[in-house]
Amino acid sequence: MANSNISIHEDNRLLQAKYDITAWFYDILDYPWERQYRKWRPRLLGDVNGHVLEAGVGSGRNLSYYGEQVKLLGIDICKEMIRRALKRASKARCLIDIRQEDATVMTTVPSGQFDWLIATFLCCVMPDHLQPLAVKQFVRVLKPGGKFRLLEMVYSNDKKLRRRQERIERFVEKVYGARFDRGTLEHISRSDALRVTNTYFIKKDVYLIIEGEKVA
Ligand SMILES: C[S@@+](CC[C@H](N)C(=O)[O-])C[C@H]1O[C@@H](n2cnc3c(N)ncnc32)[C@H](O)[C@@H]1O
Repeated sequence: MANSNISIHEDNRLLQAKYDITAWFYDILDYPWERQYRKWRPRLLGDVNGHVLEAGVGSGRNLSYYGEQVKLLGIDICKEMIRRALKRASKARCLIDIRQEDATVMTTVPSGQFDWLIATFLCCVMPDHLQPLAVKQFVRVLKPGGKFRLLEMVYSNDKKLRRRQERIERFVEKVYGARFDRGTLEHISRSDALRVTNTYFIKKDVYLIIEGEKVA
């Protein structure tokens, strides 16, 4: 459940305030994109099992795709997003706890307990200078050998597509805090405790999946 006395990194306050507003329109604004994302979510979550941490759970778009074998903890920095996720959680097949937490701090999340860490469109929202803090938390909360899977969006190398991204980049950053140029793969690759085992694009060279595991 949402808890208002959590520790939030000072540099995340603006993003939190942004999402307090965006949350009211999030599902409507995101709908044109969600129409394609919902085709990918079963693929992203179908093989996930055990004790799972979803960071940046948002309005709970992933929740119905977890199987009943999953025990999920969802965290998000924004209470309003959590309120929406809780509604979706009530219809999900697995056991779900959702709480307000900053993925760069995670004070209430226990160490070494999770078989999986899932984050979809979290790191493209997270400022680059905070990402090493989140990576440190990912390492801390995963069990040795625990797996992670992230879905992020990046700039395309295709000139036409890149121009289309540039036309919407200001809107995307203003409304979602998201950018196409976050260095998430680099931040993760720099960690000695995480091993990236696979990266691939789920659509064009824009929607990037990063998979890996915590070194046992
Ligand atoms: C673009 S939304 C993605 C939501 C969801 N994962 C999805 O796939 O639809 C990004 C979410 O990350 C959350 N968020 C951003 N920074 C965060 C942080 N440091 N800790 C936890 N949640 C964060 C936002 O509040 C928002 O709900």
